[in-house]
Amino acid sequence: VTAPDLAGRHVVVSAGGTREPLDPVRYLGNRSSGKQGYALAKAAAARGARVTLVEANTGIPDPAGVDVVHVGTAVQLREAVLKAAADADAVVMAAAVADFRPAAYAPGKIKKTDDGGAPTIELVRNPDILAELAADRALPGQVVVGFAAETDDVLANGRAKLRRKGCDLLVVNEVGERKTFGSEENEAVVLASDGAETPVPYGPKEALAETVWDLVLPRLRSTI
Ligand code: C5P
Repeated sequence: VTAPDLAGRHVVVSAGGTREPLDPVRYLGNRSSGKQGYALAKAAAARGARVTLVEANTGIPDPAGVDVVHVGTAVQLREAVLKAAADADAVVMAAAVADFRPAAYAPGKIKKTDDGGAPTIELVRNPDILAELAADRALPGQVVVGFAAETDDVLANGRAKLRRKGCDLLVVNEVGERKTFGSEENEAVVLASDGAETPVPYGPKEALAETVWDLVLPRLRSTI
C-alpha cells in the first residue's frame, strides 16, 4: 500500500512531445513517448495528489483518477500548464517541448515546384515554459521540476541547466542507445538547487517517478 503522502496537494505534470505544424499535413516533432510523464502522473495520483496531466501527442489512454488536458503545440502546452499551475504545489515538466516552431503556417499543403527546388523553412523560438514557471512562481514555495536529456558531459551540462532554468530539481538523463526515448527504462541523476545530487540507477520509469516525488515532498510548502 502506497502512503498517501501527497494527499491534499495539486500537482501538474506535462508529458509527451509537442508538434509544430508547417501546413495542414506536416509538423516538426520529436521522439518523446510520454511514458515518463505518465509514470509521474500515476505515481502522484497513487500517493493521494490531485493530478493534472498536460499531454502532447502520446496516444496513451487517460489514466484513471488523473485530469488530462490534451494539447498539440508548445504554445498550447504553455497555456494549459500555466493555467493548471495557478494553484499547484508542484509542477513537473517532463514533456519534450520544441525549442523552435515554423515562423509561418501554410494554410494549404506546401507543394513541390517543377524547377526541382525545395523550400526553406524559417523557424522562431518557442517560449521556455520551465524557465518561465521557475521565474514567476504562481504560489510562493511552488516546487518546479525539469528534465534534461544530455548526450555528453551529462553532470556539468545538467548543473549549468539547473541554474539557467532556475528550477528546484532537474532530472538529468543520459540519452543513449537503450535509454530514455520510447524505452520502459531510465537512468538519471536528480540535481537539486540546494546542491543535493541523487543518482537513480537504471530501472523502470515508475521507479524514477517515485524518486522524483520523494525528492519533491520535503521541498513542498508547509501550508496545505
Ligand atoms: O533546454 P532543454 O530543452 O534541454 O530543457 C528541458 C526542460 O525544459 C524540460 O523540462 C522541458 O519540459 C523544458 N522546456 C520547456 N520549454 C521549452 C523547452 C524545454 O519548458 N521551450
